Amino acid sequence: MTVTGAWHRAARGANLLASDGSIASTIFAEMSALAVTTGAINLGQGFPDEDGPAEVLDAAIAAIRGGINQYPPGIGLPVLRNAIAEHQGRFYGIRLDPDREVLVTAGATEALAATLLALLDDGDEVVTFEPFYDAYGAIINLANAVHRTVPLRAPDFHPDLDELRAAVNDRTRVILVNSPHNPTGSVLPLEALELIVELAHKHDAIIVTDEVYEHLTFGVPHIPIASLPGARDRTVSISSGGKTFNTTGWKIGWLTAPPELVTAILAVKQFLTYVNGAPFQPAIAAGLGLPDSFYAEIAANLQAKRDLLSAGLTSAGFTVSKPQGTYFVVADAAPLGFTNAVSFCRELPHLAGVVGVPISVFCHPEYAAGAASLVRFAFCKRVDVLERAAAQLAELSR
Ligand SMILES: Cc1ncc(COP(=O)(O)O)c(C=O)c1O
Repeated sequence: MTVTGAWHRAARGANLLASDGSIASTIFAEMSALAVTTGAINLGQGFPDEDGPAEVLDAAIAAIRGGINQYPPGIGLPVLRNAIAEHQGRFYGIRLDPDREVLVTAGATEALAATLLALLDDGDEVVTFEPFYDAYGAIINLANAVHRTVPLRAPDFHPDLDELRAAVNDRTRVILVNSPHNPTGSVLPLEALELIVELAHKHDAIIVTDEVYEHLTFGVPHIPIASLPGARDRTVSISSGGKTFNTTGWKIGWLTAPPELVTAILAVKQFLTYVNGAPFQPAIAAGLGLPDSFYAEIAANLQAKRDLLSAGLTSAGFTVSKPQGTYFVVADAAPLGFTNAVSFCRELPHLAGVVGVPISVFCHPEYAAGAASLVRFAFCKRVDVLERAAAQLAELSR
């Protein structure tokens, strides 16, 4: 049977369409399977191996016991919308109307999908940075839009501002920003954020910003682009509770935007999931209300983990980036004599009992060539796991 439909566009957008027209399995699935068969430590996928704060977990249990188990309102439970609005005011000085400018979604992923599907017409252009989170390419293709990228290059993975200027034009409908950035861990400098706002005005584009790692920065502030002068009226800001509260499996996300954008996005979102995660919504609301000390502590803990894994990678002989945020560090395997990160990642579980993923899977083939020896490792794991990984990686230098 020939299966037709939009699936191939999604697969192609995420670099998963094989040359024979079949869908290649994702490198994440392949590497996770390899971790299982070899017993290697899986630093390939970005999910924490410890539970988040007890207040958040207890609130979910209380909500289930308290009968919050049916469809919540389409835009999300008021308790969570209020908490999101308060959070944006408390951390960033952005004052929002929780009834008109906040929309709860099934993770940041649904927020991205509903936003892009709602705002794009066939042939519209979307500018993202590259490497890019794989869902971006898939959703842009599902929307029949054109994906343009601006490269981020080692060592700091900041954009060249002239290349950014050159990528945006009058056909650009959306500039899709991701800071802190997966997979490179970079945080966009203020001048790049300001230029994005300027270009969005000049070309009448909408800014969509994915800020799921907003609370996981190391020594640099997270500046939401919506907080810059002139940005808010044309910006959709997306985040999620998964990374901040170690609840990636709950899939509680949200977006904040001007009312007319929320209305348009809701028109699509209601036919994707309609609603999700009723009892987890008040639990994430409880998390958003935790004191500043909680937020300072999660960033400090993660920074210590970054330093631990980075030191291990450095002493193993990699050239290592210094991520300013996220769960991820990028290591160059070239100094160890490995120029192809895809084959290196297949060998690494056998060589050192550790799994990483090649950066090339987050890129179109043209960019991938320049990133051929780069590997992404996740450090959102327990300290003892990272210590073991660091010790095992040290074997590579022997
Ligand atoms: C940049 C980025 N955006 C979105 C997501 C997905 O977030 P969620 O699980 O809330 O859908 C991730 C998860 O890894 C991510 O790294």
